[in-house]
Amino acid sequence: MSSLLIKNGTIVTASDRYAGDVYIEDETVATIGTHLELSADRVIDAQGCYLFPGGIDAHTHMELPFMGTFASDTFESGTLAGLHGGTTCIIDFAIQTQGDSLAAALDSWHQKADGHAVGDYAFHCAVTDFNDDTRKEIPDIINDHGINSFKVFMAYKGFLMVDDRQIFELMQELVKHGGILTSHCENGDMIDHMVKTFVDDGKVEPRYHVLSRPPICEAEASGRVIDLAWQTGCPNYIVHMTCEEALERVRKATLRNQKVHVETCIQYLLLDDSLYFQDGFEGAKIVMSPPLRKKKDQEALWAGINQNLIHHVATDHCPFCMNQKEMGIDNFAKIPNGAPGIENRMELLYSEGVAKGRISLNKFVEISSTGAAKIFGLFPRKGTITAGADADIIIFDPEVKHTISADSHHMMVDYNAYEGWEVQGKTRTTILRGTVAVDEGVAHVGEGFGKYLKRPPFTPHF
Ligand code: URP
Ligand code: ZN
Ligand code: ZN
Repeated sequence: MSSLLIKNGTIVTASDRYAGDVYIEDETVATIGTHLELSADRVIDAQGCYLFPGGIDAHTHMELPFMGTFASDTFESGTLAGLHGGTTCIIDFAIQTQGDSLAAALDSWHQKADGHAVGDYAFHCAVTDFNDDTRKEIPDIINDHGINSFKVFMAYKGFLMVDDRQIFELMQELVKHGGILTSHCENGDMIDHMVKTFVDDGKVEPRYHVLSRPPICEAEASGRVIDLAWQTGCPNYIVHMTCEEALERVRKATLRNQKVHVETCIQYLLLDDSLYFQDGFEGAKIVMSPPLRKKKDQEALWAGINQNLIHHVATDHCPFCMNQKEMGIDNFAKIPNGAPGIENRMELLYSEGVAKGRISLNKFVEISSTGAAKIFGLFPRKGTITAGADADIIIFDPEVKHTISADSHHMMVDYNAYEGWEVQGKTRTTILRGTVAVDEGVAHVGEGFGKYLKRPPFTPHF
């Protein structure tokens, strides 16, 4: 049995903050106390540092085949980059190819991840073709594969998008078997029409990406899926919410005491749509869907976090190198949608959130880890620091300042949307299941260290 003792840190969970030592045996937290005098194979002094639960990023796309290319991070490189920044666990989307089975999608994602991921991982199952055969697969996906969350795309017409009937019927099935429906909310028909109109008019620069996807598209689709969830009673989670108008639909639903789980992503809190209007092809770097919004939307999202309307801040990590983005140099509609972020999420959220006084330390833990763990059935194994939980802990030094750059990041992508940003606070050490995975920027684990996580049905969504 191996043991590790972390002394003199300040333990922070979603609800508490206290001085304490953490004693870890093998992969789990064994004891928490003050001035623990236990002998251990290794002792780490965390004086002056916070001990946070390992970050969970519930929205990533490693090696995603998308728009004629593949997202540039593998499960190995992407999860390792996450560990550098303090993310110990991801939930990636295994996406069905229309015409194929859900099981085939899961096989394909397991092949990419098993034996390769460095950090821990689970899968959501994205349903792009809900039919009688797919319906029959749902109980097995939930009970055998250990996947309790299913995703639908309300946009990307022609290859990922499903219609309302499919969403409604899938929700009814999930209610029976204890699943949760997650949704990419944009009105794909409206967008399809606007994209075509711009392209036909020769308006092909990256700025037309944002102009073809106005907030109303997202708000309408968000309201629609909320209503379908209300009617069916299906637990639901809206991914990557970006704007005030969509958040208003959530607020309205709470007035009838409906529970709607909401995710935003770090880029929607920090970057705005003026970036699409830069000269040349620069705007392609942040072509993602939904697009970046206005500063007033960022304010609404920060407020939404504190109003408990938003429960998780993910990344939608879906990186493409510039030569891949250039597939759309003559037509914004061909720019692969997505951007990197997994390595920087935790530190940016601390720096821009906690250090700038927008959120509390406890809220930081809740939205970077605990909330996702609870919603998706990983809690309390993941998402908190407590006896019996996986020893996924980051030792975070709030005093260290550093600068983000593609020259020093570990993500397999040749730009960083936050290039040159000064960040307050740094992940000093990342511990995954009791093993020091990354320490002072040096990785001590490698390919295959990550474990696949099964998640149970009927989780008590908070
Ligand atoms: O632009 C994005 N978000 N790319 C990844 C796929 C998705 O919609 O989540
Ligand atoms: Zn999406
Ligand atoms: Zn996504």
